[in-house]
Amino acid sequence: MALENQIEIKGVTHAYQTDEGPLPVLEDLNISVPLNSFVAVVGPSGCGKSTLTRLIAGLMMPDEGEVRLHGEIIKSPKSTVGMAFQNPVLLEWRSILKNVLLPLEIVPNKLTSKERIERAMSLLSLVGLEGVEDKRPSELSGGMRQRASLCRALVHRPEVLILDEPFGALDAFTREDLWQIMHALRKEEAFTTLMITHDLRESVFLADQGVVLSGRPATAQYTLDVDLGHERTLEDLYTDQSVTMLAKLRREIQIAQGRSEKTEERS
Ligand SMILES: Nc1ncnc2c1ncn2[C@@H]1O[C@H](COP(=O)(O)OP(=O)(O)OP(=O)(O)O)[C@@H](O)[C@H]1O
Ligand SMILES: [Mg+2]
Repeated sequence: MALENQIEIKGVTHAYQTDEGPLPVLEDLNISVPLNSFVAVVGPSGCGKSTLTRLIAGLMMPDEGEVRLHGEIIKSPKSTVGMAFQNPVLLEWRSILKNVLLPLEIVPNKLTSKERIERAMSLLSLVGLEGVEDKRPSELSGGMRQRASLCRALVHRPEVLILDEPFGALDAFTREDLWQIMHALRKEEAFTTLMITHDLRESVFLADQGVVLSGRPATAQYTLDVDLGHERTLEDLYTDQSVTMLAKLRREIQIAQGRSEKTEERS
């Protein structure tokens, strides 16, 4: 039986109105993310990836086409969506715990204040942040702040998680730690993820499917199924199977960047 698609981007075309005239950014874009799966979207800089996240978040409507979450067309922001970005934007005047609790203060829920704190603390513990809940964001390292930001994105148990280059500002080793934390979170919680990234290894390590966007206006140029199962270790990135997948993604990015001839050269 085909899995139900939790995120459905169908024939989405979008342009920004600028002083120089319309800037076409997305063109007939189609992406489906099955329930509880993880899709990584890669593409050249400026091709429209963040625009895509804004459309899924309901912050804008596409000129043409539809964005559906669990079958429903998105016209405004939904509380069933959690988001995290490259810059965690934590509020400095609140403790880490209070930053993580923020969505529960905004999204209607029936939790008592004790239950809210238990929920936030269990997530903080899952990402290895117990003990820092009373600290301010500036007292944490970049990797710790990003872990707190993931907790905040998930605290209200969203059905959909949108990540826009969440680990992009971290050094390579911290990034790898965060990848493992992401797997740990997925083991414990059910959510459907669409992640934007520039990092091909990150796509292969984390995703069930990788989508390469073309240059602007972006369309889905290539889709790769990452058949590595759910139990993944960093060593898995160095197997022949992973190296082949990485090479394919790299090649498609080059095509998207216009540095390579189009489809006839694809193997
Ligand atoms: N509000 C806006 N008004 C006009 N143009 C915009 C607006 N937001 C983005 N753009 C333009 O749209 C294009 C796509 O922007 P977007 O931020 O979606 O790209 P991106 O793929 O996320 O880039 P990056 O990889 O650098 O994060 C860029 O050329 C950008 O300058
Ligand atoms: Mg962006």
